[in-house]
Amino acid sequence: MMLLVFTLSLCVLKMGGVSASVTQATVQSELQCHDWGVRSEGSVRVYDGEVTYIYCPLFSPPTLYNYSQIQNSSQSLLWYRHTLTDEQEQPINLKLHTMHKDGEYLWIQPASAQDAGLYICMIRNISSCVKMGVKLEVVQKDGECNLTAQPHLNVTIPFQSERTLTCPDLNTLTLPNSTHSVSWSHLCRTREFRYDRELKGDDLVIYRMFEPFASLYMCVVSYQINGRKLQFTRYINVIPVVPDIGSKVPVILNPASDQIFTVTLGDTVTLSCRVHLPHLYGEKQYIWWTVDNTTVEQLADPRFSSPEDTLVSEDYGDEVKDRFLYVRDFSSDDLQREFNCSARNSRGFISSRAVLKTEPYVPTLELGCGLGVTLALMLMMFVIYHVFWLELLLLYRSWFGSDERYTDDKQYDVYISYARNSEEEEFVLSTLRRVLETEFGYSVCIFDRDSLPGGTITDDTLRFVGQSRRLVVVVSPCSAVRGTQALLELQAGLTSMLHGGSLKVVLIQFKPVKRKSWVKELRQARLALTLIRWKGEKSAALSSRFWKQLQLELPMRRDTQHKHTQLPDITQHTPDTHTQNARQAEEKLIHSYSTSVL
Ligand SMILES: *[C@@H]1O[C@H](CO)[C@@H](O)[C@H](O)[C@H]1NC(C)=O
Ligand SMILES: *[C@@H]1O[C@H](CO)[C@@H](O)[C@H](O)[C@H]1NC(C)=O
Ligand SMILES: *[C@@H]1O[C@H](CO)[C@@H](O)[C@H](O)[C@H]1NC(C)=O
Ligand SMILES: *[C@@H]1O[C@H](CO)[C@@H](O)[C@H](O)[C@H]1NC(C)=O
Ligand SMILES: *[C@@H]1O[C@H](CO)[C@@H](O)[C@H](O)[C@H]1NC(C)=O
Ligand SMILES: *[C@@H]1O[C@H](CO)[C@@H](O)[C@H](O)[C@H]1NC(C)=O
Ligand SMILES: *[C@@H]1O[C@H](CO)[C@@H](O)[C@H](O)[C@H]1NC(C)=O
Ligand SMILES: *[C@@H]1O[C@H](CO)[C@@H](O)[C@H](O)[C@H]1NC(C)=O
Repeated sequence: MMLLVFTLSLCVLKMGGVSASVTQATVQSELQCHDWGVRSEGSVRVYDGEVTYIYCPLFSPPTLYNYSQIQNSSQSLLWYRHTLTDEQEQPINLKLHTMHKDGEYLWIQPASAQDAGLYICMIRNISSCVKMGVKLEVVQKDGECNLTAQPHLNVTIPFQSERTLTCPDLNTLTLPNSTHSVSWSHLCRTREFRYDRELKGDDLVIYRMFEPFASLYMCVVSYQINGRKLQFTRYINVIPVVPDIGSKVPVILNPASDQIFTVTLGDTVTLSCRVHLPHLYGEKQYIWWTVDNTTVEQLADPRFSSPEDTLVSEDYGDEVKDRFLYVRDFSSDDLQREFNCSARNSRGFISSRAVLKTEPYVPTLELGCGLGVTLALMLMMFVIYHVFWLELLLLYRSWFGSDERYTDDKQYDVYISYARNSEEEEFVLSTLRRVLETEFGYSVCIFDRDSLPGGTITDDTLRFVGQSRRLVVVVSPCSAVRGTQALLELQAGLTSMLHGGSLKVVLIQFKPVKRKSWVKELRQARLALTLIRWKGEKSAALSSRFWKQLQLELPMRRDTQHKHTQLPDITQHTPDTHTQNARQAEEKLIHSYSTSVL
């Protein structure tokens, strides 16, 4: 309840305030007043205790009022202000000796902190009214001079040139009968200006501009009015610039005549234009890109964009600026277009074409992949070769090798030589012979089995060896024993081989045998011979290296070449009776055949 009453009373109060201001406004002007708001250029700043003026903003653009017209018409110019302490705008009391209206200016002599606020300039006659405000800031002045002060005026002076500096606003001060003085300082140092600089009346004359004369000048205008001492301070920033001599035509640094822009099709292409713009006083100079002599704006293609130029460096007024052209999804058609960067000022025009070249297509990813695949393939082939080289050789031989049976008239494929009564004997008779005969289908000659009783052992051995295409020697320490059958066979084989016979000797090592215990003949011939090692259980399977190596050394059998892959594993050492019988039959057949030949 209390709250409601409170809010209500607040509303009443507010409404009362509003109606009060409305009535006051009607008193002031019977018709509506056109309000231009507050000047956008910013506020007027004044040091506390110094003189300032406020120029009626209605006479500066964008409004088009003219003070001399107003003077002659029935219109009048009025000033109001709205300070921080005032609730509403108040007419300025011009009877106060600090406020002085002079034409379109309002002088405040001097300004104090409580003068800060909004100043409203109004032009009105009986029927109509227009107004616009401007802010006044009163800042405290610490010390006599401020090196980092915001300049009131920037003055550019070409080197070697003469220029007269006049304290800003001094000429605006049209107070009659005021005696005034102006003091000057450069970089906050009050000094006597000599030689190339001189004080001339109120002004400071620079006869020849030099670099040390640059930077901040401060001038303080002091005068008396009605016995009051008044002053205002102004800062001028002097900027030296290059003199206006020589060619002032812009120079395009980029794209240079010998420059080539590499572009990638499909990518966003960035073309940069860098132009040297010589200093020209108060002149706007232009840099732009054209595509086939059409500006980017005229082109109105969203693929093309060119933001405003940016300042790269500035040197005594000479500027270097960059302007970029971006082309999205650069196509091969764009390659045919003429991309020109142009620059213009009042002294001339220049244009330079950007020469484009497509980047050689470097498919980094694809290249990497290709390389990877190649490496992987090479690795694979390396592995394949090292793991399967035996198989590969066998395969090669099966395709391109020739069956020796058709080219010689030998009776046996293999003659197996071994030391009798040794560990090797068991291996030869139960495994080697069986596999060679039944699995690989070779005709095998084993002297003890195949020779006929009664013959001379030496002659028979030589004959049998001579009738064989291969001599497989199962190396054993016992084969070294002189005068044994094994040694005889070996000698026969080696002799036959070394004397250009068509016999080839293959060594099989059933058990590791020290090289020293080898017979002299074997040691001598070792390097020329292939040695195949039996690796126990590992070599038992028909698919083992041992058998493949052996097969490779033995004559090629075209018809049985592919058979071994389908063969059962021979690790089971007891072949069934069926094959045993077949083998026996075969043995008999060979036996009888050999006998008949003999
Ligand atoms: C104001 O009007 C007078 C006379 O009509 C003219 O000479 C003067 O240039 C005008 N001033 C401006 C700022 O338009
Ligand atoms: C204002 O009036 C004076 C004299 O009455 C005249 O000389 C002057 O030209 C007039 N100015 C304008 C802008 O009408
Ligand atoms: C008041 O000024 C406006 C334009 O500023 C003008 O159109 C109008 O005629 C003036 N009224 C009188 C009574 O002078
Ligand atoms: C000097 O002027 C700068 C900029 O107007 C201002 O920030 C700074 O406070 C002033 N320093 C003194 C000592 O007046
Ligand atoms: C003077 O130049 C400086 C730097 O270019 C700029 O920030 C400042 O607004 C200029 N002052 C005036 C009064 O033009
Ligand atoms: C200036 O002051 C002198 C006396 O000090 C006076 O005679 C003269 O009329 C004044 N001039 C103006 C324009 O007010
Ligand atoms: C470019 O176009 C302008 C006008 O659009 C023309 O004056 C100028 O001769 C043209 N330049 C070339 C090199 O075609
Ligand atoms: C483009 O620049 C070249 C010089 O690089 C110039 O010869 C050509 O006329 C320019 N084209 C246009 C359209 O301005």
